[in-house]
Amino acid sequence: MSEVLRVNVGLGERAYDVLVGAGALAAAGPELVPHFPRGRAILVTDRHVAALHLEAVSDTLAAQGLRVDPVIVEPGETSKSWTGLAGVVDALLDRNVERSEAVIALGGGVIGDLTGFAAAVTKRGVDFIQIPTTLLAQVDSSVGGKTGINTTHGKNFAGAFHQPRLVIADRDLLATLPDRERRAGYAEIVKAALIGDAAMFDRLEAAGADVLDGRELDTAVAAAIAFKARIVAEDEREGGVRALLNLGHTFGHAFEGDAPKDVIRHGEAVAAGIALAFAYSAHRGDCSAIDAARVAAHLRAIGLPATPNELAHTDWNAASLVARMRDDKKNRDGRITLILTRGIGAAFIDAAADEADLLAFMETQLS
Ligand code: NAD
Ligand code: GLY
Repeated sequence: MSEVLRVNVGLGERAYDVLVGAGALAAAGPELVPHFPRGRAILVTDRHVAALHLEAVSDTLAAQGLRVDPVIVEPGETSKSWTGLAGVVDALLDRNVERSEAVIALGGGVIGDLTGFAAAVTKRGVDFIQIPTTLLAQVDSSVGGKTGINTTHGKNFAGAFHQPRLVIADRDLLATLPDRERRAGYAEIVKAALIGDAAMFDRLEAAGADVLDGRELDTAVAAAIAFKARIVAEDEREGGVRALLNLGHTFGHAFEGDAPKDVIRHGEAVAAGIALAFAYSAHRGDCSAIDAARVAAHLRAIGLPATPNELAHTDWNAASLVARMRDDKKNRDGRITLILTRGIGAAFIDAAADEADLLAFMETQLS
């Protein structure tokens, strides 16, 4: 077992640790067990993850004296819905969850967001622990306390800030992850570097695809989490600087909203969105075309899309995408907020994008 890395999310009385690396779950016992005073751990997961990991995770927890009581939902965004939420809340209540015990989310971002929201509202709030099983969930969605579901109005339009008590990002759980999911998760690692850490981008660029596995991956995951933790500690509820974490997401959520469900991965949409944020910044003269090209080249080297037409869905309409962007949660006073950039590691918030210019730019990108 390699050394487990530890990142603290400094939120005062709601502070928690993120444990990173192979074997982190087995090593977590002393920190995990006190959250389960009844000796049972209600664990929410999806059917894919259950088939691959539930038995081994249950055995690891049994070795720590915990009996797992699983709640298994269908994989995919469809579970991140009002119906999916009701199902998980009812399952927790059926098991008579108490406020003194935590609920475990074992899975990707869908399971973490859904379980976290269910934990936030059940009995007015029970604790939860994230055991993320996708790279995307390990580096991004399991940390920071954003929980929620999708509604007909858009992605993540209903939710709550509810911080986990502990996050265990065990690399062993990624062994079964398809390459496509691994690459999609990488988009959120490189995002951290592109927002505010140019030296981290240099290291990622030099490592290339080697960063997707082994100890290189632990280091990159811990760096991305530490970057996010600093921003969350400064601005937990996204009154300001946390919006930077949405680099690529205004475009990305529009792609996700306009594509059929589960055809493109969230991280793929974010990758194309990051490349567009750089390209649009270059178009406006905020950032150099060289930086925009460098970012696109790196994304492609990893196997990620760098334009909308490299996504698995290509039937895009610029007006429809911009209409989605108009509904983004970050917007203020009816103006589109975009996360743009002055270069690698220098993202900034533009709270009043020029919609006509953005539409014209999107039309050129889709042609
Ligand atoms: P996901 O949860 O849908 O998982 C992707 C697929 O991988 C699923 O089919 C799942 O069953 C499977 N899977 C999970 N772990 C596996 C493993 N170890 N081996 C094999 N298969 C495995 O998707 P995701 O990409 O992890 O998360 C995307 C979601 O996260 C989106 O809903 C997005 O909105 C949300 N998100 C939330 C935040 C946040 O801050 N809360 C941040 C980023 C993304
Ligand atoms: N994934 C963006 C955030 O957590 O704020």
